[in-house]
Amino acid sequence: MNMLEKDQRYIWHPYTQHKTVKELLPIARAKGLYLFDEHGNKYMDVISSWWTNIHGHSHPFIAESIYQQALTLEHVIFAGCTHQPAVSLAEQLMPLLPGNMQKLFYSDNGSTAIEVGLKMAIQYWKNKGELKRNKILALHQSYHGDTFGAMSVSERGVFTWAFENHLFDVIFLDTPKENETWNVAGIPWDEVACCIYEPLVQGAGGMKMYDALHLDDLIASCKKNEILCIADEVMTGFGRTGKLFASDHVPSKPDIICLSKGLTGGSLPLAITACSEKIYNAFFSQDLHLTFFHGHSFTANPLGCAAALASLALLQKEECLQSIQDITAGNRKFVEVLKEKKNIINPRSTGTILAFELHSNDNMYLSKVREETMKLALSNGIFLRPLGNTVYIMPPYCITAEECNTVYSFLEKIAVKDL
Ligand SMILES: Cc1ncc(COP(=O)(O)O)c(C=O)c1O
Repeated sequence: MNMLEKDQRYIWHPYTQHKTVKELLPIARAKGLYLFDEHGNKYMDVISSWWTNIHGHSHPFIAESIYQQALTLEHVIFAGCTHQPAVSLAEQLMPLLPGNMQKLFYSDNGSTAIEVGLKMAIQYWKNKGELKRNKILALHQSYHGDTFGAMSVSERGVFTWAFENHLFDVIFLDTPKENETWNVAGIPWDEVACCIYEPLVQGAGGMKMYDALHLDDLIASCKKNEILCIADEVMTGFGRTGKLFASDHVPSKPDIICLSKGLTGGSLPLAITACSEKIYNAFFSQDLHLTFFHGHSFTANPLGCAAALASLALLQKEECLQSIQDITAGNRKFVEVLKEKKNIINPRSTGTILAFELHSNDNMYLSKVREETMKLALSNGIFLRPLGNTVYIMPPYCITAEECNTVYSFLEKIAVKDL
């Protein structure tokens, strides 16, 4: 059996219907923007491997940092122990975070960062004795992960239908259109514990983008009503929206922020849920019942922390910050080009993320347009993974202007093609 046959024999892949997906891409190695398959073909990874990779694949500085850390301390339980990489990362990241974040809780993926944020917010009110505050606000079209809490605060649909009876109730708000305001009529504010949102860009929900003014309005309304705000920056964090964090685009700030994906430059699984002092203080007590009873075996894994320190150092370099600005400017210009194309709906960009819809008769996540676009892209040396008929790019920051233009040319081609 070759590798693909063995894969088929033994493995169940994420978000994959194995009855219909016959061919997986056998990736042998990756470098910078490019994935190389077993046959030597190369593909531009312009979706950054599920939005994780920010500096390009197999970055030597990140790889060396992980290697050195592996020779020193690969892992240790984080309850009752601590270590230098976790402390250094907290010390370096904290001043860069939006708002007044004072404490940082480690976990190991985006969904767990969300679970931690929700549990912190819910228990915060319990610990303070405000038992009435137990409702949660979330946004329609949102996606916060695949664990039960994260699914509960996400849009109900094709990802969640099978579990509907097991998800907790949430008050969903519609993201307002350009000249509208939030419809918050009827919200029992004094019963709400927290509001969770993806700032500016709702990723898996279809790269839906909304205005910074609306984001500011939402947070300001929550603050006025003393509701905790949880910014899910799992996707938008670390430069994606043109600033270090999407929350940096507005004056109102979250109380809790969830980070993962780009945190380690996309090299290892690690996540952070950071919170303000007042949240931490509600748990700081002689009463052991008020403890935050949450943790994962690989909490604050030293290899992940070392990778994150290396990634953060790269991110703060002038050339990386400049590249983020260049990609942002290129995307803005290309959106204007796409506006003239007949097959394109709602071209848009926020920072390094560019998206549009292709006309389709079945404009849902399961749209056929998706498969066809992916195939066409692959045959042009580009790795895409549209969300239904929503095509998007979110490249690593090492992409050059020339490579961006190659991708734009391909997107122009599909803009006029009848798929
Ligand atoms: C905004 C957002 N939150 C949470 C998650 C969940 O992250 P993970 O896949 O690491 O569990 C994702 C994943 O795509 C995401 O985009």
